[in-house]
Amino acid sequence: MRIDILTLFPEVFASHLNCSIIKRAQDEGFVQVVITDIREFSTDNYRKVDDKPYGGGPGMVIMPGPVFTCFEHVEKLSPEKPKTILLTPQGSKFNQAKAHELSSEKRLILIAGKYEGFDERIRTGLDAEQISIGDFVLNGGELAAMVIIDATIRLIPGVLGDDDSAKNDSFSDGLLEYPQYTRPEVFRDMKVPDILLSGNHQKIAEWRKQQSLERTKKNRPDLLGEH
Ligand code: ADE
Repeated sequence: MRIDILTLFPEVFASHLNCSIIKRAQDEGFVQVVITDIREFSTDNYRKVDDKPYGGGPGMVIMPGPVFTCFEHVEKLSPEKPKTILLTPQGSKFNQAKAHELSSEKRLILIAGKYEGFDERIRTGLDAEQISIGDFVLNGGELAAMVIIDATIRLIPGVLGDDDSAKNDSFSDGLLEYPQYTRPEVFRDMKVPDILLSGNHQKIAEWRKQQSLERTKKNRPDLLGEH
């Protein structure tokens, strides 16, 4: 998969892309992530990319010109037709099912906005799906883009060493994940449940399912259709 990210703050991405699973996925050729600075496509001597809103009001709005030119440049860098995503709190909410859907794409282009918003023609003129990562407003789409690519890359087949790791994740079966324990058996008077030491795999699977259900009921009843 190739992922292009269009941003005004390219430096935000470096540390995360160079860590752990995301770094390994790139090194092993599962994914190529390319960051492009929208400001490079400004036609202004001061590399300006935003301006005051027509009709008045506070803040600055990202102009369509640099974003469209940047997008058209990036689109041509690879032959695959991309799925384009615009990060905005006004989009539909991201979840694990969407991450699964995106993980089977050949190519993604993510556009991160900044400031008070972008010119509406960016929303309407690019064939982009609008995605939000939650009901809150970030200063820009960069962290949202990072969240989406992090959740998506780990689902590309082969990226996680053990394919089962993703199957057991929270949300994969519509439930939160069951409790996990490792050594020591007793830590500060807190003991690992006996069932996990029993060696009885069927009983362990039943216990885990039950724990998943209880945890979901308590913390996220909405996932069970209860409110
Ligand atoms: N940009 C600002 N807030 C955002 C959010 N919640 N999701 C996606 N992009 C955003």
